[in-house]
Amino acid sequence: MKKGTMLCLALLLALLLGACAPARTPGTEAGASVHEAGGREIVVGFSQVGAESDWRLGNTQSMIDAFSAQNGYRLILDDAQNKQERQITAIRNFINQGVDYIVLAPTTERGWETVLGEAKAAGIPVILVDRRIEVEDEDLYVCWVGSDFRREGDAAAAWMEEHLPEELRIVHLQGNLGSSAQIGRSEGLADAVARHPGWTVVFEAPGDFVQAKGQELIESLPEDLEYDVIYAENDNMAFGAIDALKKAGIRPGKDVVLLSFDAGGRALRMVLGGEINLDVECNPMHGPRVRSVIELLERGETPAKYTYVEETWFDAETLTAAEVDSRGY
Ligand code: AHR
Repeated sequence: MKKGTMLCLALLLALLLGACAPARTPGTEAGASVHEAGGREIVVGFSQVGAESDWRLGNTQSMIDAFSAQNGYRLILDDAQNKQERQITAIRNFINQGVDYIVLAPTTERGWETVLGEAKAAGIPVILVDRRIEVEDEDLYVCWVGSDFRREGDAAAAWMEEHLPEELRIVHLQGNLGSSAQIGRSEGLADAVARHPGWTVVFEAPGDFVQAKGQELIESLPEDLEYDVIYAENDNMAFGAIDALKKAGIRPGKDVVLLSFDAGGRALRMVLGGEINLDVECNPMHGPRVRSVIELLERGETPAKYTYVEETWFDAETLTAAEVDSRGY
């Protein structure tokens, strides 16, 4: 056979082989690892709220670990810096990129209809994680995995009922308004206050789950304001409050009762040290949970619509050093 004819045949063979190669998921990179079960890389667009707290950082890391290339995924992570508009833009970008799944940790509960309608029209399943959303059409998302924030608020209220007197002046540091975490924890407190005529909220303001804002709010309290309890809706605001109290010569956990939520490692050490009196757990390790949902969907199965994570609470009486050391976040 002539040299020229051989070259033509080789080219034809290469073209034919190329045509038979499996199609790649849009946006995937050549040479990436493949999903063990399905043999293809799965692309997940994750719209994260931001980086406002220790909890959030732990949550982001959990997602990164779960959706690693080694596990057969490509994770496109977007940090919305606590702005819903940015999350909406991120979701639209995910749709344009043709991701296989969209995972949304929503900043607030309302305002998702339009963009989730666009994801639905594009045929991309949306999985909600952490906080909930309020939409009329619940088919706009496949399912939700997260915490029962109202139950967390009720747990804090039950602890207060058991451990604190009938006359209480409460300073309430709220998370970012309109988020499920704020709504549930605030409702738990409000209901308890309504049940106890001697309990009064003497100050209430949002600190957006941010340490510096928690500190600022406590520093902004009028000097003559008297209070017995700080109900901080997350650990970082509690840390800020503790710094402000110490600066003012007030002993956190002794002169003022400190209640917090999340129960990350740093905060639990403060529970052991007596500076935080109660920390209600909010577990951020959602990565493996969301991955299980995707694995179910890949097998053509239907996940539960709502999955609540089991959580507990810690105070100085019940917490052990071993529990603190084993905290992964
Ligand atoms: O939605 C979970 C809450 O968001 C956590 O309690 C808080 O720390 C975070 O920023």
